[in-house]
Amino acid sequence: MSKKVLITGGTGYIASHTCVALIEQGVTPILVDDLSNSSKLVLSRIQELTGVLPVFYQGSILDKVLLAKIFAEHPEIEAVMHFAGLKAVGESVEKPLAYYQCNVAGTLNLVEAMQAAGVKQLIFSSSATVYGDPASVPIEESFPTSATNPYGWSKWMVERCLMDFQAAQPDWSITLLRYFNPVGNHPSGRLGEDPQGIPNNLVPYIAQVAIGRREQLSVFGSDYNTPDGTGVRDYIHVVDLAQGHLAALTYASPKAGCHIYNLGTGQGYSVLEMIQAFEKASGRAVPYVLAPRRPGDIAECWATPEKAKRELHWQATRTLDEMARDTWTWQENNPMGYEPQ
Ligand code: WQD
Repeated sequence: MSKKVLITGGTGYIASHTCVALIEQGVTPILVDDLSNSSKLVLSRIQELTGVLPVFYQGSILDKVLLAKIFAEHPEIEAVMHFAGLKAVGESVEKPLAYYQCNVAGTLNLVEAMQAAGVKQLIFSSSATVYGDPASVPIEESFPTSATNPYGWSKWMVERCLMDFQAAQPDWSITLLRYFNPVGNHPSGRLGEDPQGIPNNLVPYIAQVAIGRREQLSVFGSDYNTPDGTGVRDYIHVVDLAQGHLAALTYASPKAGCHIYNLGTGQGYSVLEMIQAFEKASGRAVPYVLAPRRPGDIAECWATPEKAKRELHWQATRTLDEMARDTWTWQENNPMGYEPQ
């Protein structure tokens, strides 16, 4: 019997790529998503790529009745991968209660439902944002954590709740995966990042400029203490990230305890380097203007991924050129995302 895993936020960008990786390894994903920031078309795209149409429940992790129904109908669920959440830094400043309700209360609701069903393995989609403005780079898991915005605090609070809960329930396995900057898409061009409205993040914005949906990119800050003055981040291909989840399910989840891993490449790239890589991959110009720093931004953020390499036997392998190429393949094949806007 193959392992069965509940995937919250299952039709989302990172979760959908993780579903493909899980199915390819014989794992059965059960998806739940409220479709507030993703498309149901993702299900047929997963089937196209894997031959499997995943079981899907539409709804929120805040719905206790729905979660109980899912666990009752799938008593073989062994673990939960929890991706569902709000993740836009700027929006979190405008709507903090929505972020605490969805990200924190939603997670507490999910853990209570897991406890009632006797499911004791949780892998949580955390973020490098919990490191705040690090004192140095590269960042290790032992670094102090904090935040600079409600989105970051919500991730920090969820980690705190999960660590305290696992200390009280020592037979549970809780794995916190701290993503750096996920980018790129499945090389087929059939799964991708499809932000609603104006993209908050750099790479989807660059892609929309290249395809002609946006006029030009604003480079937020060119006076940072970095080699070319623009912000430096650890961009990681979403397929590498998906493989990281499979590694966590295999090597961390079966072990009781609280496990924390950086999922990054260990290599930082600047905004200007990202623009150059994308222009090379797409053959399209990406016009940009130098603009003031974005409030809350930090100069540099990249990981040391040694702990994941050592304990999860995992490391990112895809290059910046592959990240740019796969971003362009998706954007070129899906100029308006999954559904015409
Ligand atoms: C990257 C760099 C910007 C847009 C955030 C969240 C993090 C995770 C990833 C959810 C920075 C610059 C950006 C633009 C720009 N999200 N930039 N022009 O801020 O590192 O991380 O997204 O998990 O938790 O904090 O990513 O892509 O927004 O910015 O110059 O139009 O690109 O200043 O240097 P960030 P980003």
